[in-house]
Amino acid sequence: MGRTKLPKELTLAVDSLGGDGHGVGMHGERTIRIKNALPGETVTARMLKRRKGEWFGEARQVDDPARERRRAACAFYPRCGGCAVQHMSYRAQLELKQDGLTSALAENGVQAERVRDPVHGPRFNYRTKARFGVRVVNGEVLLGFRESFSNRVGRMTECLTLTEPLSSLISPLKTLIASLSIPERIPQVEIAAGDVEEALILRHLDALDASDLEKIHHFGRRHQVRVYTQSGGYETVEPASPGAENPYLGYRNPDYGLHFHFAPMDFTQVNLAMNLKLVSGAIVGLSAPAGARVLDLFCGIGNFSLPLAASGLAVRGLEAAAPAIERARQNAQYNGLAERCEFAVQDLYDADCLNLGQADYLLLDPPRSGAGPNLLAWLETTGARRVAYVSCSPKSFAQDAAVLKQAGFSLEQVGIYDMFPNTAHVETLGIFQRSW
Ligand SMILES: C[S@@+](CC[C@H](N)C(=O)[O-])C[C@H]1O[C@@H](n2cnc3c(N)ncnc32)[C@H](O)[C@@H]1O
Repeated sequence: MGRTKLPKELTLAVDSLGGDGHGVGMHGERTIRIKNALPGETVTARMLKRRKGEWFGEARQVDDPARERRRAACAFYPRCGGCAVQHMSYRAQLELKQDGLTSALAENGVQAERVRDPVHGPRFNYRTKARFGVRVVNGEVLLGFRESFSNRVGRMTECLTLTEPLSSLISPLKTLIASLSIPERIPQVEIAAGDVEEALILRHLDALDASDLEKIHHFGRRHQVRVYTQSGGYETVEPASPGAENPYLGYRNPDYGLHFHFAPMDFTQVNLAMNLKLVSGAIVGLSAPAGARVLDLFCGIGNFSLPLAASGLAVRGLEAAAPAIERARQNAQYNGLAERCEFAVQDLYDADCLNLGQADYLLLDPPRSGAGPNLLAWLETTGARRVAYVSCSPKSFAQDAAVLKQAGFSLEQVGIYDMFPNTAHVETLGIFQRSW
């Protein structure tokens, strides 16, 4: 196919829906992926990007809207890249995610004995973490997610997926950044919320002066948010507002009577309400008797390890990030579970990491790339009988499910947990049982 110029606009019929929630149609022989478009619709789309022979765009006008179309609740949709499927009924969003999971499993030759109904929770104001880009354009400070199919920072004043306290910081933050001596040298702001407090980390590429630091201090006090500045890597994060000397936020897991501390830059699940359902789903699914040995792989700050220990199990948590392991140990100590848990820093993708010792039960919660090259070896060397596998990528989950099948495990049950409503992200829990 020649390198035809990307047209400004195209009108086309939408034939199907991709796993990313984008409508798919053809223009001659070229595949076109359109945000905000549903199968059966004819849309006029603004074309935004080309990649590997495919064109990407965003529907501006929709003729004959599909039955599943809904008016997006957010004024910044579809331009903002934070959400992908706000134009769909919630039922259609869940179907899209469930279908993506079952097709990925089928492609990898894995059949589940039972596919559970999707587990869901709040559809808006659920998100407790975000990394926003910052840009100054013609003197105006923009702060937000990147725009769809682009690197440009979106123009937004609120975000309906964020918890309300975090969303309400967006406009004041822009005003703060505009008032600093170096607004063009602030590339990013990370925000995080615990159950009761919020924190933000302001990345700066040049030094902030005394007046900047005073404004930041005042902002933190006025908006009741802990503010940190960051001049380089995470080791350069410094408290810059009242209360920020305490480096930890917290969340509770009342189902297991636990309280977790975490630093704003630690990995934590972004939807705390759904996290509770996911943790109990994994532990109930694992069905390990009291006293059994469990390996919690990719354990982070102990989000699953501590509830497992509180359920009477002997837990060993492994994880590559040293600060997360330090937090897991502190959390075990703080919750009186140190005797039932041990934690170690371990790169689980390392070629030498083949033998993790014996364990009857495994809990896996890897990054998007999956459990990595050692999974088959672990299944043999641990002698595990049951595995609870939590995943944020149906693709790598299904590939690893095929490895589990090869090692003699059947997929007893699988289902999605809708951690990220209105986006195309899919969280999956699968329970595997050794069948020979
Ligand atoms: C999806 S998070 C899960 C964390 C934890 N289970 C939770 O629920 O909060 C994946 C974790 O894997 C860790 N990780 C990424 N690559 C790793 C590797 N090669 N070896 C070990 N841990 C890794 C990350 O630091 C992160 O904490």
